[in-house]
Amino acid sequence: MFLAAQVALSLFLPISSAATSGRRATTCNGFSDLCGRSYGNITFVGAHDSYAVGVNNLFTDQDYDVTQQLNDGIRMLQMQAHNNSGTIQLCHTSCSLFNGGTLQSYLQSVKSWINSNPNDVVSLLIVNSDGFAPSQYDTVFKAVGLDTLSYSPPSATTINTAWPSLGSMIDSGKRLVTFMDTGANFNSVPYIIDEFTNMWETAFDVTDTTFDCNVNRSKGDTSTELFLINHFLDKIVLGEDAPDPEDANVTNSVSGTGSLGAQVQTCVAAQGRSPNFMLVDFYEFGGGSVFQVAATANGVTYNPSTPVPSPRSTGTATGTTSSTSKPNNAISQFGVRELIIPAVLSLSLLGGWMAVL
Ligand SMILES: *[C@@H]1O[C@H](CO)[C@@H](O)[C@H](O)[C@H]1NC(C)=O
Ligand SMILES: *[C@@H]1O[C@H](CO)[C@@H](O)[C@H](O)[C@H]1NC(C)=O
Ligand SMILES: *[C@@H]1O[C@H](CO)[C@@H](O)[C@H](O)[C@H]1NC(C)=O
Ligand SMILES: *[C@@H]1O[C@H](CO)[C@@H](O)[C@H](O)[C@H]1NC(C)=O
Repeated sequence: MFLAAQVALSLFLPISSAATSGRRATTCNGFSDLCGRSYGNITFVGAHDSYAVGVNNLFTDQDYDVTQQLNDGIRMLQMQAHNNSGTIQLCHTSCSLFNGGTLQSYLQSVKSWINSNPNDVVSLLIVNSDGFAPSQYDTVFKAVGLDTLSYSPPSATTINTAWPSLGSMIDSGKRLVTFMDTGANFNSVPYIIDEFTNMWETAFDVTDTTFDCNVNRSKGDTSTELFLINHFLDKIVLGEDAPDPEDANVTNSVSGTGSLGAQVQTCVAAQGRSPNFMLVDFYEFGGGSVFQVAATANGVTYNPSTPVPSPRSTGTATGTTSSTSKPNNAISQFGVRELIIPAVLSLSLLGGWMAVL
């Protein structure tokens, strides 16, 4: 009798779990409330030029590398892909100005993080600067094993409300969503998703703090596309756009003129919904404020287990963020930035170096 019940139970359990298709995620991107929400109804924080990491350098937009970015809560990684003698390489504007290494080694770090964090969905936004074919990206994704973790939508365009829930993406193991600005081809590589027929963007490289929520680039129906705000402030250095770490704590903050929080409110007023993606520079400036803004937009509470690290870039010769990392020598007095300017100026004469910033 007892044995029969045990046999029946052991037969029943696998059938039961198969019928409910296995694991059910209970925490999704850090919050249980997000599991049942459509990917298209969530606000994610993104790192603009996520591979362009360096301190007080005119060509870098982040102080911390991709692994730290992901640890702290960045869930969209934006990058510029360039052709460096046939290899897909992550460079800023040009590989001679800033070379952030190969796409393959970068994606290897992303893959390691995704493997260690099975309850998270991560998005990539690739700027296909030199027109590599989707099949060439596919070769790199396959080499690091990210092809099998990639989400392929059922068709080339997906309206915002039709995206699956975060929980179902996590359950299916398809936890990487990749968008590409130009050259995507659904019939060739379905997981490389055409950006502008699925997502619109606000203006980028702005140098004033207005941060409106108007459509700047799109190739689709903006009422049903996902949308991304470019919330990073540039400043003009010798007539060219450059990142602005001096103002990043204000730019990234929760409220006030030019803040991330204020742009989200502008979007809710103008578009009737929050942005899906918010690209920021120097994400840790503000002490986690960018994640606070996302949590508020998502209706959850930001309560990190470890605080974000302190900023590294100062951008000013008088900054005092860290006495240990700033040796008292000529370079720190003037700032690396000032030493780079003459080099940048001569390169700019070679032609429009900031054209694709
Ligand atoms: C990349 O550059 C190499 C030469 O260095 C060239 O042979 C190749 O066609 C280029 N690839 C693309 C996609 O333009
Ligand atoms: C998009 O924004 C740029 C500034 O980043 C501006 O020069 C351009 O006119 C805008 N285009 C549209 C269509 O709004
Ligand atoms: C930004 O940093 C400056 C200088 O470190 C400080 O005076 C200011 O209060 C900060 N603003 C915010 C919004 O954190
Ligand atoms: C998600 O839906 C809620 C309710 O309609 C809305 O307030 C919020 O702005 C939406 N968020 C996004 C990113 O679409």
